[in-house]
Amino acid sequence: MLTTTSIVRPRGTGCYAQPCDGRKLTSSVPTESAPHTIVFVIASERPLRLDAPREEALEHAARLVAEAWRSFDSFRPEEPALDERVRRLLERALPDEASPVHDALDDAARILDESIAQARPRYFAFIGSSGLEIGTLGDLLAHSYDINLAVDARAATQIEDQAVRWVSEFVGFPMSAGAFTSGGTVSNVTAIAAARERAVPGSRHAGLGARRTAVYCSQEVHYSVTRAVELLGIGSDNLRAIETDGLRRMRPEALNDAIAHDLAEGVIPVAVVATAGTTLTGGIDPLDAVAEVCEARGVWMHVDGAYGLPAASVSSRREMFTGLDRADSCSIDAHKWLYLPKACGVVLVRDDEALASAFSHEQGYLPHQLHELHAADITLEYSRPFRALKLWLAFRAHGAAQFREAIERNLAEADLLYRRAQHTEDFEVMEAPPQLSIVPIRHVPRGVADVNAHNQALADAIQADGRAYLAPALIDGEVWLRPCFVNFRTTEEDVVALLDVARELGDRLARTGSAA
Ligand SMILES: Cc1ncc(COP(=O)(O)O)c(C=O)c1O
Repeated sequence: MLTTTSIVRPRGTGCYAQPCDGRKLTSSVPTESAPHTIVFVIASERPLRLDAPREEALEHAARLVAEAWRSFDSFRPEEPALDERVRRLLERALPDEASPVHDALDDAARILDESIAQARPRYFAFIGSSGLEIGTLGDLLAHSYDINLAVDARAATQIEDQAVRWVSEFVGFPMSAGAFTSGGTVSNVTAIAAARERAVPGSRHAGLGARRTAVYCSQEVHYSVTRAVELLGIGSDNLRAIETDGLRRMRPEALNDAIAHDLAEGVIPVAVVATAGTTLTGGIDPLDAVAEVCEARGVWMHVDGAYGLPAASVSSRREMFTGLDRADSCSIDAHKWLYLPKACGVVLVRDDEALASAFSHEQGYLPHQLHELHAADITLEYSRPFRALKLWLAFRAHGAAQFREAIERNLAEADLLYRRAQHTEDFEVMEAPPQLSIVPIRHVPRGVADVNAHNQALADAIQADGRAYLAPALIDGEVWLRPCFVNFRTTEEDVVALLDVARELGDRLARTGSAA
């Protein structure tokens, strides 16, 4: 926005053509009678200036980032409580006046330091992301240029295409199209939207009307799939939760029966969603057998590999993903097991028309001049940040081999925890070893009557204690501790410490009723 200011200057005092302070003069109205010249200027001093040179602010921020990286290199013995300054900051109303940028940056760093950071090596909750350094730098660069990847952005668009190809090569999926998304939730809805259009052509325009449709998945599916069918008008009542086997994997025979039953009832199968790495226990559905059913029935097969698919790249697990190459689409989150900062999801499809048939638009303000299709024609978003850059940079700077090594290391950590917990009397593990890097364990000390209440209290106590961070999970109605290893900073020592901390607090809880 241009702003105009008027300054009043005595005549003949110089600085007529250009104001002395460097601002640009745009028009002047000298008057003979007036003792002063009135000069109108547009403030060439642009708005939104910091109180310090921006290069200094950048250096300051870089120091804070380096400090954070150093602090993530090893565990910290406890999580700090919110200090008084942060508390006061959180109470403040919208500031109208500027604050010194160095102070504001320091406050931001303090707030971050007092937050739960998934980057720390003893963060084992949910499925974390670990803020790989090169990814942070990639985000800084990408956000500085602030390119929109909605329509053709020249080199950036080509980098996105290349990064998508690299991911598909890394996991072994024969894609012909794909795009970056904000994560598994959006990747899943994107793929299922394409499947819906394939199953009921024209439904994106006409809606599903009276047609009954269904989507199939295992009982362990991530709730983003439930959301997707709700958003797409299929309805979560028509999401068929297929029973699982002893390894918590979808039973292909039951899937086949469910589809046959629906077809006989006039229900149109839209898609089967197989999960390659369930959120609860890391189970991998039998992709090849699921593909067999999908091919026989002509149903779209989507693989939700948001968490687990990177493990398809490593030799110790590759076989578990056999059949992935037969799927129609898949989701992978680089912000989970490729260690990058959020948000960095990828959706890949085999048929290059599939996404466009579900999403392409012709608008007066989006002419298709240079490219047949813009990225906005194959995804949900229009404003699309340059998410691909951080993954592209990470593959460049580390090479695929280092990623495979890091994934193998996480798998070994999961295995270590499983074996250690299995061989102690006071912990219980699941019957089968972990397929990936999630290892549910339960503390079962002698004399505790309500093991569920005990493990819930233990999970709360571990979070309050701060030496490690994990979350509980409900598995078949039982409360378990559910550590997940997806952090490249975690070491064997951290794994052993997790069990030690859980035992120490659990024993205290069992003895005294309090972990404090
Ligand atoms: C298997 C699976 N699918 C989808 C998602 C959703 O991913 P996002 O949080 O990136 O949207 C998750 C998240 O944990 C997941 O584990």
